[in-house]
Amino acid sequence: MMLLLIATALYFAFAAGISTDSLLSAVSNVDDCPSCLALLGAFQSIALGGDDAFIISFTSLCIGLGAADPDVCTGLIAREGPILANDLRQINSTGQTAEKLCDALLGMCVTHPINPFTVAFPKPPPAHPKVFKSRGRPTVPVVHLSDVHIDRFYTVGAEANCTKSICCRDFDDSPAVPTVPAGPNGNSHCDSPVTLADSLLEEIQRLNPVFSIFTGDVVEGAVWLVDQPEVTADLQAFNAEMASKLSAPIFPSIGNHDSAPVNAFARTTSHTMNNSQFVFDTQSAGWERWIKAEAASQVDHISGSYSAKVPGMDLRIISVNTQYWYKQNFWLYDSDVIQPDPNGIIAFMVEALQAAEDAGDRAWIVGHIPLGKEDTLVDQSNYYDQVLQRYKNTIAGQFFGHSHKDQFEIAYSNYSEQTAQNAVGVALIGPALTPTSGNPAFKFYDIDPDTFEVMDSKVIFTNISDPTFQISPTWGLYYSARETYGPLVGLSPKEPLSPAFWHNLTEVFETNNTAFQFFNTAISRGGAVTECDGDCVNTTICDMRAFRSENNCDTPTPGFQLRKRAAASHDSDECEGIGLSHILSRMVLAA
Ligand SMILES: *[C@@H]1O[C@H](CO)[C@@H](O)[C@H](O)[C@H]1NC(C)=O
Ligand SMILES: *[C@@H]1O[C@H](CO)[C@@H](O)[C@H](O)[C@H]1NC(C)=O
Ligand SMILES: *[C@@H]1O[C@H](CO)[C@@H](O)[C@H](O)[C@H]1NC(C)=O
Ligand SMILES: *[C@@H]1O[C@H](CO)[C@@H](O)[C@H](O)[C@H]1NC(C)=O
Ligand SMILES: *[C@@H]1O[C@H](CO)[C@@H](O)[C@H](O)[C@H]1NC(C)=O
Ligand SMILES: *[C@@H]1O[C@H](CO)[C@@H](O)[C@H](O)[C@H]1NC(C)=O
Ligand SMILES: *[C@@H]1O[C@H](CO)[C@@H](O)[C@H](O)[C@H]1NC(C)=O
Ligand SMILES: *[C@@H]1O[C@H](CO)[C@@H](O)[C@H](O)[C@H]1NC(C)=O
Repeated sequence: MMLLLIATALYFAFAAGISTDSLLSAVSNVDDCPSCLALLGAFQSIALGGDDAFIISFTSLCIGLGAADPDVCTGLIAREGPILANDLRQINSTGQTAEKLCDALLGMCVTHPINPFTVAFPKPPPAHPKVFKSRGRPTVPVVHLSDVHIDRFYTVGAEANCTKSICCRDFDDSPAVPTVPAGPNGNSHCDSPVTLADSLLEEIQRLNPVFSIFTGDVVEGAVWLVDQPEVTADLQAFNAEMASKLSAPIFPSIGNHDSAPVNAFARTTSHTMNNSQFVFDTQSAGWERWIKAEAASQVDHISGSYSAKVPGMDLRIISVNTQYWYKQNFWLYDSDVIQPDPNGIIAFMVEALQAAEDAGDRAWIVGHIPLGKEDTLVDQSNYYDQVLQRYKNTIAGQFFGHSHKDQFEIAYSNYSEQTAQNAVGVALIGPALTPTSGNPAFKFYDIDPDTFEVMDSKVIFTNISDPTFQISPTWGLYYSARETYGPLVGLSPKEPLSPAFWHNLTEVFETNNTAFQFFNTAISRGGAVTECDGDCVNTTICDMRAFRSENNCDTPTPGFQLRKRAAASHDSDECEGIGLSHILSRMVLAA
């Protein structure tokens, strides 16, 4: 079977004028940037013969090399393959775009320098920036939920121990008698059942926040099966559930899983109908009840981004679609023309922040993918940082999800001098509901109603290993950042959890391993803990000090990157999950 499938792939390679073993050898020879570009060249020749030839060759190799289950290879490549084939037909296979594609697919050619671009601002920074002063009034509660990944095909009793990125479903190739039957409320190999999402929303309502923010990823991780009708239905269903269970407004964002195929958000320059407008239409209609008409219209016209005022507060929520800055969005490689600001998201942020500054309001940025990790393009991360530096006095908070982890990333006015004085911003990253990366959790903030700064950040979780979890999940405090970390840095009672506070905490982590190990366990709320010693500690602290992806320490040798991508399934650092990058990495390692 394997030889037959490889033979099929090679037949198409032959039809495209590629010598019979050159495709297989191009796959097996990949270990650096030039060999990765050579592989793209071989795939390019096949793509020039049309999408069908490309899909068949790629799928045959994927199955033949055992890179994933056959249904996963077939479904994934049928969905994402045409985007990649379209890219390859448009670009120079040894140019800058091809290098970026190699980086996205295989973690190679990562050293490409940043394309300099100066973000334009309507006004210079004010000579006398407004001082936002706390009047010491009681804090107000705000909830931050993220990465719910609700699997509406979750089946109680289905196999929970499978070889796919999510289990607990009746797949076509599931065994007749499960070895580990899925329980009613969730499993660490599976995305969230509806019962778990309901339990989360009921707990949030009980805590009675003044409003909530949701940093995206509604849709489950069976990305080889997900299509537009499913995404639309999933988004609508969760909007309806939030509306029926929560009485306070919710300010949501769009995640990389909230489209079909996964990660795919075409640029306006693509002139294609596959531009995710169905996502923006669905969310514009579903969110209007919370964000109101003007912002809902922005969702529709600004590729899912909007700016909305929180009722009764001098606070604006600026929700950005971060997927145009995401390496795994393969629509970003469909031209050699460099686009600094795809779909004008950065320009929209500037406009919304200028309006907030002019009005004397504060702003929170809310989005799915935090900009400090390896999975965000260095160009756009750099341009976002320019916006942050300009509007640092207006921006009181930045909130993201995507990693599924409880983390933070600090921005500095000078990244060569990472000090408390130079810390100008912090991104707070919310943990996931889905049990695939630890215990289900969300964040609960105490907010100063005058400055809109975070006074405390608490993690509320439910323990999937607790014997009562399958009967009824119970939620409780995992820790309070103020109580746990405040004393370690000598935080005084009236001070917020400022960027300087988080910086000082990273200094504590450098010297106090007990404190660092607490952080490392809390990342996954005490479930699925990954050991972290030595180099890992340094890398982790380096990454805490990088809200600009050019400054992180995530760019090790290509071979390492390749293995990391190949291993990614339920527990990837970047939440890429199983995608083209994952299967291509496994093909290269298997060939
Ligand atoms: C765009 O969508 C059409 C219709 O669904 C499909 O045939 C085509 O392959 C898609 N193109 C890409 C590049 O995904
Ligand atoms: C393709 O890119 C390479 C490397 O940048 C360059 O040398 C070559 O001239 C380009 N080819 C075309 C046809 O533009
Ligand atoms: C899950 O399946 C793997 C192999 O398919 C097996 O090694 C492992 O023991 C199973 N785990 C449980 C809990 O049954
Ligand atoms: C940033 O810090 C470096 C290292 O301390 C210093 O040499 C440089 O002058 C600083 N840049 C600015 C703009 O202050
Ligand atoms: C979760 O429950 C298990 C089983 O009772 C227990 O061993 C574990 O310590 C609990 N984890 C947390 C974070 O409370
Ligand atoms: C951070 O540490 C510096 C230097 O020790 C100190 O001056 C500053 O007050 C600290 N800031 C906070 C918010 O803890
Ligand atoms: C290190 O951190 C732990 C809490 O994680 C704390 O109990 C201990 O006092 C700290 N040690 C020092 C020397 O500050
Ligand atoms: C971590 O970094 C510190 C300071 O930069 C260095 O002294 C130490 O050797 C590093 N540890 C490891 C394990 O690389």
